[in-house]
Amino acid sequence: MKKATNITWHETAITKGERRAQNGHGSCVLWFTGLSGSGKSTIANAFSSYLYEQGISEYVLDGDNIRHGLNKDLGFSDEDRAENIRRIGEVAKLFVDSGTIVTTAFISPFRSDRNQVRSLFDEGEFVEIFVDCPIDECERRDPKHLYAKARRGEIKDFTGIDSPYENPLEPELTIQSHKVTIEEAVKEIADYLVSKNMI
Ligand code: PPS
Repeated sequence: MKKATNITWHETAITKGERRAQNGHGSCVLWFTGLSGSGKSTIANAFSSYLYEQGISEYVLDGDNIRHGLNKDLGFSDEDRAENIRRIGEVAKLFVDSGTIVTTAFISPFRSDRNQVRSLFDEGEFVEIFVDCPIDECERRDPKHLYAKARRGEIKDFTGIDSPYENPLEPELTIQSHKVTIEEAVKEIADYLVSKNMI
């Protein structure tokens, strides 16, 4: 692919600070990471609903959905996962710039990819939330029957089976989804954002 030349960055007339002031709250990305079936999407959507009910500007970017459109050219090789996460990071940055609290629910298995996304953001704007659930439990849930398929060899490079997942080392939050209710998880995230004067 040939890179574009002769391009110039333009500042927008309205700043991120002005959009936040108009919205009456901060903006950040809540970056959920964890195994398939760990509960990322469920908790991300529950938290998004919680924000919405309070009139807070929010949006969810979800793995399966983004792979139907923006990233439909990508598979599950290490390189494609890195590109998937890179693009999502850039999209999330646009949402944060727009004054929105954006939640993302991607496995994002590699530390280096997550840290690369973190580096796009100002201090406090990237909130990494590790949805920590043992693989046995994810496999027991297996809502999409993907673990069963992976065990039968019908899916290659499946995270946790024959493709790695690297736990976050210093996530802002860890949610043990097999030990807490969805309501408790939502409260924990809300308390964190309140403590940071985000909402
Ligand atoms: S990644 O690793 O962040 O690029 O993956 P992501 O974009 O979040 O997509 C994960 C969802 O794709 C389905 N799926 C797979 N997951 C892992 N490995 C393989 N090989 C695979 N093939 C398909 C699966 O439904 C994942 O959704 P979740 O919501 O995580 O269960």
